[in-house]
Order: sequence, then structure tokens, then C-alpha cells
Amino acid sequence: MEEQGLLAELAPHAASLLERHLASAKEWFPHKLVPWGRGRDFTDDDEHDEAPPILDDAARSALFVNLLTEDNLPHYFRTIAGRFGTDDAWGVWVRRWTAEEGRHAIVLRDYLSVTRAVDLVALERARMSQVATGVVPEPPSVADALVYVSLQELATRISHHNTGRLLPDDAGRGIMKRVAADENLHHLFYRDLTAAALAIDPESVVPAIERQVRHFAMPGTGIPDFARHARTIASAGVYDFQVHHDQILVPVLFRHWRLDRVQGLRSSAERARERLLAHVERVGRLARRLVERRIPNVATYT
Ligand SMILES: [Fe+2]
Ligand SMILES: [Fe+2]
Repeated sequence: MEEQGLLAELAPHAASLLERHLASAKEWFPHKLVPWGRGRDFTDDDEHDEAPPILDDAARSALFVNLLTEDNLPHYFRTIAGRFGTDDAWGVWVRRWTAEEGRHAIVLRDYLSVTRAVDLVALERARMSQVATGVVPEPPSVADALVYVSLQELATRISHHNTGRLLPDDAGRGIMKRVAADENLHHLFYRDLTAAALAIDPESVVPAIERQVRHFAMPGTGIPDFARHARTIASAGVYDFQVHHDQILVPVLFRHWRLDRVQGLRSSAERARERLLAHVERVGRLARRLVERRIPNVATYT
């Protein structure tokens, strides 16, 4: 099916999922969650984080990567608006989603600034470098984009949620929980839209799922020193192969998209489906093996 045809057929679904989203999204205010009383002025001597270390390395890395990923919003907007367009329900969704995502960087940065939980000079330099580089995944079709954002929003929700569990303070945990709840609603929008796309055009959506699952990488590849941060994050179980398999691939692909039961595909789509099932099986086996051997594992395998 043509890209424009798929978008047009999906538009009514996008409209009703947008309505559902607006009915379930709760208004919240970043400034009310930030523990301002813990902040103090910075001086010229504050080149580096001089606060007592309140966090371990995994929590620092996770916050650093999570915030920088949120900071890359202009580039995510560019790709998503480019794929889905800015007309009708698609445009309303993309703009609303952008406004919601903007809050995540605001609250995380304010929290890190008052608590000095990470080195703020390094953080700002990394933000400049990442946003100036502008590297984000560029899914090659509407179907690929829907699948990618479905997986990515869920991955982000889990990552924020698990990061919150590493934090020692109620304010930090509350912030991560709040942000994770937003990501969950984003995930539900895309997940159910992908299910609609799958019903409309399984011949192109199944291969898109196979491509996106096989090449899925957590956002953050443009972040300086990302590989080291990803290893540290995996070692704390914030995001690793097991999380990726058990909490993302299995529930989304099988419980919601029912890929194990899709029938009647033409041969190339059916071959993609079989490759996909075998791939998920392999990821599961690998995750179990790594866990048994207690080897920290990074769920990035492009
Ligand atoms: Fe976000
Ligand atoms: Fe999101």
C-alpha cells in the first residue's frame, strides 16, 4: 500500500486514539515536583559537581542518558512530523506529543540542577554535542516509524521507571514515575495505531516490525560516551536484554500484535514473520544465558 494511502486509512484511528489519549492524560507541573529547597547558587568555581555524591554510577548514567534523550526532541519532532505529516489528527497528535515531551527535559534538568546529582557542565556539553549532531533513527516508512516509536516509548517508560528505583529520594522517584506515566500513554497510542495498521496492511507492516525489532537500539547513540553509559545502565538492570525481551518484545509482539497468529500472508511477509519469531526466540535465549552467568548485557544489537 502507498504511504499516503496508509496514512489516510489510519487517520480516523489516529483521531480516536488521540481522543482517548487526551481523556487519560493528566495535567502536571514540573515546578511542583522539583525539590527547590535543596538548590543553591552556582559560582565560577563550580566547574564540576561538588555536591556529596548522592547517587551511584548507574543512577547517574541513567539520568544523564535519559535527559539527553529527551533533549533531542527537536530531531525526533523532525522525523515524526516528516513521516506522519502535520495535517488532521496526525498533526494534532505530533504537536501535542511534542509539548508533553518538552516537560520531561524541563523537570529532569531542574531536578539535576538543584540536587547536583550529575556533573552539570559535562551534561550541558553533552547536550550541545548531541543536539548539534542531530542523530536520531530515521525509519524508512510510515509502518517502520509506527513500530519504532511503539517500541521506543515503551523502552523509555521502562528506563525512566527503573531509573526512579535507583534514586534515594522521594522527589526523584516521584519525577521518574510521573515521566514514565506519560511515556506509557505515548506507547499506548502508537502500539494501538500499529495494531490498526497491521489489520489494514499486514503485507507491509509485518516486514516493518521485523526490520525494526532486528535493528532496535535504545535512543542515545549520539550521546558522548554512550557505550560506557549503556553498559553501566545494563549492569544495574535498568535496561538490558532481559528487560528488552520480557517487557517489550514478548508483550507487544505477541499479546498485542499477535504476530504468532497472523495467517494468510504472502511469501515475503511470511518469511519476515518467521525470521522475526526466530529472532525473538534467540534474544530470549541469549538474555537467559547472560542472566544465568550474571554478565551485564546491553540491549543494543545493531
Ligand atoms: Fe519523554
Ligand atoms: Fe514519550
